[in-house]
Amino acid sequence: MRFDSLKTKYLPEIARIERESFSAPWTEAMYAPDVEDENAVYAVGVDESGAVVCYGGFHKVLDEAHITNIAVRACDRGKGYGSALMAKLIELARQSNIARMTLEVRDGNECAVGLYKSFGFSVEGIRKRYYENRFDALVMWLTIGEESNIF
Ligand SMILES: CC(C)(COP(=O)(O)OP(=O)(O)OC[C@H]1O[C@@H](n2cnc3c(N)ncnc32)[C@H](O)[C@@H]1OP(=O)(O)O)[C@@H](O)C(=O)NCCC(=O)NCCS
Repeated sequence: MRFDSLKTKYLPEIARIERESFSAPWTEAMYAPDVEDENAVYAVGVDESGAVVCYGGFHKVLDEAHITNIAVRACDRGKGYGSALMAKLIELARQSNIARMTLEVRDGNECAVGLYKSFGFSVEGIRKRYYENRFDALVMWLTIGEESNIF
């Protein structure tokens, strides 16, 4: 697998992976502005045939990286692609002089929470009924650079 930036040609596959991954999936139209947005940084994992294996990205807000979505296609989960993707996003954040990264994850998504904790993210808040006005979101943060707890 190699990583590419977000390109329009990937959007149909990303939208398909969104639908198999999330109850409120982002559509192609929702991702389209990020293709041109210089403050949007994405990594798209592509296999030898050019198919999308995983993707994730963040929006730069001053020196913070606000992660939008992270997903691995269903047939390839549990094989280390999520870890490779997160490592790539942290590398891209460092290159962008980001100090802290943050994301929201649905409370109870043990797989994703385990992934984030393994990279040093910690839960610093809870947004009540954030998803579909039903499920709580955990707000997780990671400090990178000098104060990082993983490097
Ligand atoms: C969350 C997701 C991106 C993880 O990707 P993945 O390729 O399956 O993860 P990896 O194989 O790289 O595993 C990375 C870590 O995740 C955690 N993890 C993976 N599967 C797990 C499981 N079944 N239970 C608990 N933790 C798990 C572990 O910490 C694991 O590290 P380890 O193998 O050293 O123990 C993937 O499952 C996914 O796309 N899920 C659906 C979409 C989603 O929930 N995205 C996150 C939204 S915030």
